[in-house]
Amino acid sequence: MDLPKRPDVPYKELESIFENSLSQLKIFYILKSSIDLRLYDRLKDYKSFEEISDMINIKPTLSYYILEILTKIGLVEKKDTLYKNSKLSNLYLNSDSQYYKGKSFILTTEKVNMWEDLMDTMKGDIKKNDNNHFPLIIQVMGENSISGDLYDVVKLISNLDEFKKAKRFLEIGGGHGFYTIALSNVKPDLESFVFDLPSVVVETKRYIEKYSSKVKTIAGDFYTDSFGEDFDIIFSSYNPSGKNPDVAKKVYESLNVGGLFLTKQNFPSENEGDDLEELLANFEWNLTDLTNSKKGKRSFTFKKDLFLRDYLLFLEDLGFEILNSYNVLDLSPNAIATVNDKIVIAKKVK
Ligand SMILES: C[S@@+](CC[C@H](N)C(=O)[O-])C[C@H]1O[C@@H](n2cnc3c(N)ncnc32)[C@H](O)[C@@H]1O
Repeated sequence: MDLPKRPDVPYKELESIFENSLSQLKIFYILKSSIDLRLYDRLKDYKSFEEISDMINIKPTLSYYILEILTKIGLVEKKDTLYKNSKLSNLYLNSDSQYYKGKSFILTTEKVNMWEDLMDTMKGDIKKNDNNHFPLIIQVMGENSISGDLYDVVKLISNLDEFKKAKRFLEIGGGHGFYTIALSNVKPDLESFVFDLPSVVVETKRYIEKYSSKVKTIAGDFYTDSFGEDFDIIFSSYNPSGKNPDVAKKVYESLNVGGLFLTKQNFPSENEGDDLEELLANFEWNLTDLTNSKKGKRSFTFKKDLFLRDYLLFLEDLGFEILNSYNVLDLSPNAIATVNDKIVIAKKVK
């Protein structure tokens, strides 16, 4: 038998796809282990790799390479032969820090487990119960908002004349409640409410207490319950109902004439992109569904959602005037946001 001919497409092309993805996976697992081993709690001051090796009980050669790799990716700083947290890891990975991203890692680990068992995940029909899912999500979103857009959004809203004159404020799907808590600090005479699922307002109340705020909560489901009435401002940020026309109608009914609806959501482009990141996000979105908020096909979309253009036309038909629409990243460059994230300001004019 003759040897096969040289193939006309070199294997090297395939190998580089494997190697590049494997290299990202290795970095991910180094990162994950460093967090699981609480390395950033131990590296608040300079340590040698030998000291770290004793503390985390791994071979000195391995602790040396972990520290070198973490230095390369900017999470550790090296001086002579000693290592300590970089500013970035000291803020977000050290569990004593008030910016610690602990809940975000729990969520990331949940996702990793889903990807590790991708064959099963794809064949299964994973339904997450909204009442169990959102209490964790809002803790992650809370961590993200504090180090992201919170202060820019609060500045935008608190500078509006309508806010300065407002008496009653409502945030729907407010979760952690940080936007409302911060706005209520700016304007202590404002009567402020966070509306959210009953299982979530339990968490909201914890934050309200932690930050000694007088914000009140309303437990309910925005698909089936009314929000109440006589509000001067209604705010909504990244909610399953954020592009839903029925919920927009409820917002309209709950607002006073002259009142504002401010909504910050991810509005996908009308044409589905074929960018790798977008395809991965859309794929992952479809691996699970929620029991209550039924998902749409593309990431961050739900059944009945409208595209931005149609949503704005719908608001105008209801009796809103669109005062402004910003890209979240223009307003807040450090926001955990994409180019599709917009904040819309609409005034109820009739
Ligand atoms: C992605 S989180 C956003 C949290 C917060 N607004 C923010 O931007 O950081 C979605 C929020 O919508 C709430 N939510 C989801 N379904 C809901 C429903 N049917 N009724 C009321 N709130 C709901 C969740 O509990 C959660 O607080």
